[in-house]
Amino acid sequence: MNHLIAPSFLAANFGNLEKEVTVINNSQADWIHLDIMDGVFVPNISFGFPVIQYVKKVSLKPLDVHLMIIDPDRYIKQFFEAGADILTVQYEACTHLHRTVNEIRNLGMKSGVALNPHTPVSLLKNILPYIDMVLIMTVNPGFGGQKFIMESYNKITELHSMINAGGYNVLIEVDGGVDIENAAKLIESGVNVLVAGSTIFSSDDPAETIHRLKYLI
Ligand code: DX5
Ligand code: ZN
Repeated sequence: MNHLIAPSFLAANFGNLEKEVTVINNSQADWIHLDIMDGVFVPNISFGFPVIQYVKKVSLKPLDVHLMIIDPDRYIKQFFEAGADILTVQYEACTHLHRTVNEIRNLGMKSGVALNPHTPVSLLKNILPYIDMVLIMTVNPGFGGQKFIMESYNKITELHSMINAGGYNVLIEVDGGVDIENAAKLIESGVNVLVAGSTIFSSDDPAETIHRLKYLI
């Protein structure tokens, strides 16, 4: 399968969201990645339902919603109603992860589980049959523009083997510090979805940068 590109709106200009969504609509991006932060699970607060609803209204691409919030079960239905197509929860924030991912799927969304840099992929062994995607955090969650953690390659390779060995239909997404330099190696390691925030939105031509990430040029 060709890999997917999910621009992270954390780095977008919120003063002109419609323009930013239009740029993504007219690009080769596959999804729009929206980061929800509660100021508790991560030391930052981003945005909430009104922004998701608005992006949903103007976006032609599926919404890939990444929850960096504690106890996400409280809001799963609301994220669905706001327009999430893929809903990813942090492994570290879920006490009853099996219940959480099933609820996400039962509502008709794809379910994802995100791992912080210190969380081993081996912990996913018994949840892989129930999910559609694993998000490997390649920086500590909370902020855009951070440096990619090199140990992430080992996690990706190990996860890729686990998925193949089990014959699961699970995508591997990476998030944090993705740029033109490391994109090709990430795809070679088994990544299916590249999230990129500052690399795309801080570039002179976001659509061209998306094109480069898509074709690895
Ligand atoms: C960080 C978020 C990321 C962030 C990535 O906690 O999950 O999605 O936007 O930003 P960059 O691509 O700038 O590292
Ligand atoms: Zn994210």
